[in-house]
Amino acid sequence: MADANAECNIKVLCRFRPLNKSEIIRGDKFIPVFQGEDTVILGQQQIATGQGMWVFDIAHKAVGHGKSYVFDQVFPTNTTQIQVYNTCAKQIVKDVLGGYNGTIFAYGQTSSGKTHTMEGNLHDPQGMGIIPRIAEDIFEHIFAMDENLEFHIKVSYFEIYMDKIRDLLDVTKTNLSVHEDKHRVPYVKMQYFCWYMCCVSVWLFL
Ligand SMILES: Nc1ncnc2c1ncn2[C@@H]1O[C@H](COP(=O)(O)OP(=O)(O)O)[C@@H](O)[C@H]1O
Ligand SMILES: [Mg+2]
Repeated sequence: MADANAECNIKVLCRFRPLNKSEIIRGDKFIPVFQGEDTVILGQQQIATGQGMWVFDIAHKAVGHGKSYVFDQVFPTNTTQIQVYNTCAKQIVKDVLGGYNGTIFAYGQTSSGKTHTMEGNLHDPQGMGIIPRIAEDIFEHIFAMDENLEFHIKVSYFEIYMDKIRDLLDVTKTNLSVHEDKHRVPYVKMQYFCWYMCCVSVWLFL
């Protein structure tokens, strides 16, 4: 990120989703314990007693500390989409609009909440994930600019799964290859959504 005060250009944030219905029915327990804004402890068990909440180490059956994992920020299950966006993405979008490159990368096992976080519910202002919020912020920025300026926006959308690249804007392309441009920068030949914007007109090309 272009923030001159930032200690590091890479941030790692960890979001936890609540147990889903089938996990609850199966009797799974939610085991992460959050400490402050950046730490999660695994391997502890919280037991409510008459005197308040006691913390036990599952393995040793005694008061213990479990294992702590520290991130730049942890997001407990009640974290909203807008909170995630403001912490993870808003500054990156500002930097990109200022001419820097930016990447937001969601990593996690299947069903951990990547699509919920990145895409979410596209048509629900509360449920929208990071990608539609980025689009909104970019267009808001453009609409606030001088009306004589022209903007070209290109969007590609693909999935890398089991070493195969699938174009999500053209479902017929299921195994795309990676090429290198003359500066040896890797790229994938694929479909782009393009917006050419000037004044009040917007054309959408495929
Ligand atoms: N933070 C969350 N709060 C509530 N439900 C969530 C959350 N994250 C994920 N889910 C739900 O969990 C399920 C799996 O999430 P999903 O985003 O599809 O996982 P992934 O893309 O990592 O495979 C979906 O039904 C999704 O709605
Ligand atoms: Mg997914």
